[in-house]
Amino acid sequence: VKNLRKDTVEKIDTLQDMVAQELDSNSVERRPSPFAKFAGYQKLLKRKAEAKESGVDVTFFAAHEGVNANIVSYGGREYVNFSGYNYLGLSGHPQVSEASKAAIDRYGTSVSASRIVAGEIPLHGELERAIADFIGTEESIVFVSGYGTNVAAISHLFGRRDLVVHDSLAHNSIITGCRLSGAKRMSFPHNDWDALDKLLAKHRGEYQRVLIAIESVYSMDGDIADLNKAIEIKKKHDAMIMVDEAHSLGILGENGRGIGEMFDVDRRDVDIWMGTLSKSLASCGGYIAGDHELCDYLRYLASGFIFSVGLAPGDTAAGLAAIEVLKREPQRVARLKQRSELFMNLAHKKGFNTGLCDGTPVVPLIIGNSIKAMKLSERLFARGYAVQPVIYPAVSEDEGRLRFFITALHTEAQIANTIDTVAEELAKLEDEMA
Ligand SMILES: Cc1ncc(COP(=O)(O)O)c(C=O)c1O
Repeated sequence: VKNLRKDTVEKIDTLQDMVAQELDSNSVERRPSPFAKFAGYQKLLKRKAEAKESGVDVTFFAAHEGVNANIVSYGGREYVNFSGYNYLGLSGHPQVSEASKAAIDRYGTSVSASRIVAGEIPLHGELERAIADFIGTEESIVFVSGYGTNVAAISHLFGRRDLVVHDSLAHNSIITGCRLSGAKRMSFPHNDWDALDKLLAKHRGEYQRVLIAIESVYSMDGDIADLNKAIEIKKKHDAMIMVDEAHSLGILGENGRGIGEMFDVDRRDVDIWMGTLSKSLASCGGYIAGDHELCDYLRYLASGFIFSVGLAPGDTAAGLAAIEVLKREPQRVARLKQRSELFMNLAHKKGFNTGLCDGTPVVPLIIGNSIKAMKLSERLFARGYAVQPVIYPAVSEDEGRLRFFITALHTEAQIANTIDTVAEELAKLEDEMA
């Protein structure tokens, strides 16, 4: 940031002036913010200024009206939506909404304290039992955030004498949990089991405990980890394994019970199952599932659990009701799979590069550089399609992409029209940029 060119500095200043003017106009006189000069903030302003200069105006925080499902509306206009994780269409499902409302009527909107301090509502235990039964573990424990679940669990369970080895594409919450734990952190190339094996052969002996942290479906590329291979390596090196099922619960396995069901593994071979309530389960929060000792240890001692409020009644009831609907209607899982594969196959027919995608509901269309990906997203929005670009530094500069999240609610026609429109808009854009 120190070496910014003069014109970029001017652009940032202009942008800062504009923001300050806007804020001035709706508040009392503002003082200069001490955060304005933070290097990270300056970097953000630089990127915004550059995007603006390239004529890109992607709206990141657009307020949507109504449920975030296969259709979403912004400013009174409806869009075919690929930017949410409502994979099974259970957010907005009448039974889930009703259960959530009834819990609020009965218990209020907050449980107002940590569960260890003030006790819990019966729904907490019911949800934890339902999650454990659904994925096939002894117990589970729920936290108020999926992100916070990884941070709280990893940082609590591991320490200075331990090693956490994670996939190079692991979610930020896993990495933050490792950092906070004080354990040594290493990464292995994405889904490269030989590399993991070699790394552990070299380093296993230097540490007390070793955790292998992987995801089941990767949220940037939509590919699936080989769980059998991961378990084999864990056993070989006397390590532990944690699987983040944020994007596989409700998705993988015939009944949506996740990657454990898909690979038909003994669920006890994975030491720590983690998942979020915010995606297929139409709520907010996360869980850790595994044996009694794991959950008991976290329940009484993990800072992120005991020093934080219990899951809100409405969220708890929504997660519980979502599991009930999912158990009753496994056809949602089958439909999601069919729609996801349809999207991927039609994309291939049009010559799109879908990267590593394995037919899961996370389908990247790799377009090229960041500006091209942002412009394409903007054009699609103008045509009535909501899909977010993923750009550098989240992916390398030449792998800018549009990432489509498919839901069981998308119709086949919506999917076919989307692929046609993306191809059309991309061709136009490439002509203009040539
Ligand atoms: C792999 C993975 N883990 C954890 C999280 C955090 O979950 P939440 O958004 O429910 O906090 C996400 C969120 O997208 C995720 O993709």
